[in-house]
Amino acid sequence: MNAAATGTRKPLTVAVVGATGAVGHEFLAVLEQRNFPIGTLKLLASKRSAGQKLRFGGREQVIEEMTEQSFAGVDVAFFSAGGPISKSHGPIAAAAGAVVVDNSSAFRMDPKCPLVVPEVNPEAMAGIRLGQPGGAIIANPNCSTIIMLMAVNPIRQAAGVSRIVVSTYQAASGAGAAAMEELRSQTVDVLAGKPAQPKIFPQQYAFNIFSHNSAMQPDGYNQEEVKMVKESHRIWGDSAVGITATCVRVPVMRAHAESVNLTLKKPLGEAEALEVLKRAPGVTVIDDRGNNRFPTPLDASHKDDVLVGRVRTDHSQPGGVGLNLFVCGDQLRKGAALNAVQIAELLLR
Ligand SMILES: NC(=O)c1ccc[n+]([C@@H]2O[C@H](COP(=O)([O-])OP(=O)(O)OC[C@H]3O[C@@H](n4cnc5c(N)ncnc54)[C@H](OP(=O)(O)O)[C@@H]3O)[C@@H](O)[C@H]2O)c1
Repeated sequence: MNAAATGTRKPLTVAVVGATGAVGHEFLAVLEQRNFPIGTLKLLASKRSAGQKLRFGGREQVIEEMTEQSFAGVDVAFFSAGGPISKSHGPIAAAAGAVVVDNSSAFRMDPKCPLVVPEVNPEAMAGIRLGQPGGAIIANPNCSTIIMLMAVNPIRQAAGVSRIVVSTYQAASGAGAAAMEELRSQTVDVLAGKPAQPKIFPQQYAFNIFSHNSAMQPDGYNQEEVKMVKESHRIWGDSAVGITATCVRVPVMRAHAESVNLTLKKPLGEAEALEVLKRAPGVTVIDDRGNNRFPTPLDASHKDDVLVGRVRTDHSQPGGVGLNLFVCGDQLRKGAALNAVQIAELLLR
């Protein structure tokens, strides 16, 4: 249910930290589309953007430089300005009485901060109230994790999941506005016969695929892969599920894709799996074998739902316990801003 439908609460003072960024822009769109009950909106970014304007609710709003004083009287603060800013200013906003919904990885493993996908584990934030003394910090999971769990959680509820092998195909938008510009400008340059000029990513991005750009661990896994494992375990409260991930950046502007191979605890046929997914909130099934029509990042772009298709039995696993899925989700939306606004909507109940 969106905020418009809840109806009764007084309008809130809401801050968007990182309002000029890729996620920040999506926050403004989602808050407006879902009629979140905003009385006062504070658009916060760095000094570089102070004084610039963004449109919200048919009006131009001036962007302010975020400072330690920015959070007085703020009810809800959405943070999307990177981990260091969340770490330094999230606790300041909470101490001022705000409920912080944080998009960075800063608090995702902090046991004091619930890590929430509203369709999966809303109970994790039970007890948090708007206006409570000392505020609160709620963490939004990593985008690839949210998109995977939206598809896998309904299957897990129906048949249990003992193992997940996931491979991601991640878009430029997952790395922010500057990465999207890098893909655009490199594509133009390469098509014009000029050399691509890598700035954000170390390698050529246009017409290329490379291992996710997050930090590499000594064991050969990058941080995105580690996040998918650890965050899924935390959200499910079940670290017994075996999860292994390979995360890759592909030259797609917006929306991530994921190939997911599951080992189930009990057999689940294709038809049953499709029925489970069709009933799942926030999921749309696109699975048309006759026309070879399945989810694409373009289908998923600017959509709230996570798209699931290529639902098929994995014949290599005996006993009908193997299942393959292909999933696409707009990571700026369900992977970031939409999930965060849905978390805030749970506080309006
Ligand atoms: N992109 C995604 O799909 C996605 C998904 C989930 C989570 N996230 C997380 O969300 C955060 C933002 O990602 P993004 O993709 O939107 O990045 P982005 O496009 O690069 O935007 C960064 C934002 O942070 C602001 N900022 C930078 N330094 C600041 C400072 N000192 N004080 C206040 N604001 C400051 C920027 O403001 P200026 O314009 O003034 O520099 C800009 O608004 C990151 O933590 C990221 O990991 C992103």
